[in-house]
Amino acid sequence: MHILVAVFLIISTMGDKTYVSDKINKEGEMKILVTFYSRTGNTKKVAETIAGTLKCDIEEIVDMKSRKGAWGWIVSGKDATQKNLTTIGAITKSPDSYDLIIIGTPIWGGKMTPAVRTYLSQNKEKIKSIAFFCTMGGSNAGNAFKDMEDFVGKQPLRTLEISTKEVVQGAYIQKVKDFTAGVLKK
Ligand SMILES: Cc1cc2nc3c(=O)[nH]c(=O)nc-3n(C[C@H](O)[C@H](O)[C@H](O)COP(=O)(O)O)c2cc1C
Repeated sequence: MHILVAVFLIISTMGDKTYVSDKINKEGEMKILVTFYSRTGNTKKVAETIAGTLKCDIEEIVDMKSRKGAWGWIVSGKDATQKNLTTIGAITKSPDSYDLIIIGTPIWGGKMTPAVRTYLSQNKEKIKSIAFFCTMGGSNAGNAFKDMEDFVGKQPLRTLEISTKEVVQGAYIQKVKDFTAGVLKK
């Protein structure tokens, strides 16, 4: 009788992906960190939505180089396309304490930002598993994600691209839900 009840309980939870996802997060079986750089707030908004959905830790990467104004914009574009590193503020959450790092960047000149490149260069050995997201004015982050994948040397579990238009219109919420569900399914 007890065996029958146990078999029923196992079978009844097998197909329930939502239950499994909730369980992974609530019981802390999978530790996730959302980390991101944002110059004007779009990527921050998406990062906070992802972390809020997953109820996980979040850390902002701070670029110590001033990127304000028109000159800052020009220098930033140049730094990104030339794949330059920068100086970033000290991080408070070590990636090796997490099973998965979800890292977000704005797209600059078709590339990841120098702050994210620097974070990855300093921490890639400590990353067990990774997923990428970005915000951008245009609509194709393929090259940037490929560059990030090559740079880290790990294939992302999932990727998520959000346009600035989608951020403004709030259309990113559903995309974030699909992305986080996909990440937890892996
Ligand atoms: C220096 C610079 C270069 C950019 N280059 C691109 C680009 O190549 N392609 C694109 O789609 N958007 C580009 N953008 C737009 C940003 O990716 C977009 O506004 C993003 O949402 C900004 O994110 P943030 O608000 O988190 O800083 C660029 C923005 C800046 C400041």
